[in-house]
Amino acid sequence: MTSAPLETEPQTEYAQRLRWFHQARFGMFIHFGLYSLLERGEWVMFRERIPPEDYAPLADQFNPANWDAEKLAQTAVDAGMRYAVFTARHHDGYCLYDSAVTDFTSTKTAAQRDFVAEFVTAFRKAGLKVGIYYSLLDWRFPGYFEPQKYPESAAALVQQTHDQVRELLSNYGKIDMLWYDGGWISHGRRKEIPEAEFWRSVELNAMARELQPEIIINNRAGTQEDLDTPEQHVTASEAGRGWESCMTICHPAGWGYVRHTTDFKSVSELLQNLVKAAAGEGNFLLNVGPQPDGSLRSEETTRLQAMGDWLQRYGEGIYGSQRCDLPNDSLPGGGAGHWTRQGNTAYLFTSRWPGQELVVPLVGTKAKSATVLGTDLQLGIRYECNHRLVLTGLPEQPPHPDVSVIQIEFEDIPSTLLEDDTSAWLKRNA
Ligand code: GLC
Repeated sequence: MTSAPLETEPQTEYAQRLRWFHQARFGMFIHFGLYSLLERGEWVMFRERIPPEDYAPLADQFNPANWDAEKLAQTAVDAGMRYAVFTARHHDGYCLYDSAVTDFTSTKTAAQRDFVAEFVTAFRKAGLKVGIYYSLLDWRFPGYFEPQKYPESAAALVQQTHDQVRELLSNYGKIDMLWYDGGWISHGRRKEIPEAEFWRSVELNAMARELQPEIIINNRAGTQEDLDTPEQHVTASEAGRGWESCMTICHPAGWGYVRHTTDFKSVSELLQNLVKAAAGEGNFLLNVGPQPDGSLRSEETTRLQAMGDWLQRYGEGIYGSQRCDLPNDSLPGGGAGHWTRQGNTAYLFTSRWPGQELVVPLVGTKAKSATVLGTDLQLGIRYECNHRLVLTGLPEQPPHPDVSVIQIEFEDIPSTLLEDDTSAWLKRNA
């Protein structure tokens, strides 16, 4: 394997701070809370307009006998994940940790447990970085929905947010990520009330950074901070900017446990999302929604394990990889593959195996050697007109049923030739 090339040595404070994140590529998102008991997703309270006094008694039942943070951490490690983000408090306001500013917490109700403490301790012990998800909004406050009509409630909500972020970043040792959500102002009032103003986000984040100087903060409190957070799609930000795509493991449904989910994403689809994120130097934060008893369902664990097995074999092209400027549209169907690189070594990930030959046109750099990753097979290399790199001797069948990987070592950083005259290829360019 190639050693980390000099060009990736972080230069700025920002790049330094994001270094582990850039290496990590794959994380576990965990949505767990009172809503898990209702089995209809984490938005159930609002979607069904369940008043807080009817919703709150769920806390007397929430006592997940099979919530085992160490087991969960092991599942994440086995999946090849390098960090995790846990819902300390979602939009329903129920705290899965010991908050001093409310009694609506797991420590003061049936469970009598601090799930954030358990999460942080277990995941850290397993060598994973830890992130805390915190929803700014809390549906129990009328001032969230109608800030002008109930200004005192709105002020109390914002105060609660500041107090709870302070608690979370003060009482659990080192926290690597602060994952805000729910910063939007309800019912289209976004235009009237800027989010950052409403939540006093500049002040909030200054406090967060004072408490946790190395923390990475996402962009969901109305300020840009460190990370973009595309949701349910993988879209790269500009080079140099940190980003992470979060995604559910099933098609739409919910982030919190939904009992009747049949539409789980295939391992191939999940791997393609991971690979696409890596190709854009971003991360893939894959969600699980534990069952009411706290355990994961087998549909989740089998997929995670399969991804971990795949990463064992092909992870060298994923972790800490860089963008690679080579064309991917020559694969069957066009755009069916993604390139990453480590220094001068490029990796092509594809779920559309081309057969015995792979042709990549307009390659501007000389290839030295090529192999099918995970085998000792040396591929033939030849160049044809139009700077077509032709690799020969590939196995007829894809070496991996989901996503296979070809590794090519180049003499320099691989690049694509620009076509000044886009018709030149018609005349068999050199
Ligand atoms: C949305 C949802 C929320 C979920 C989050 C994950 O913002 O409101 O339920 O936690 O996405 O990114």
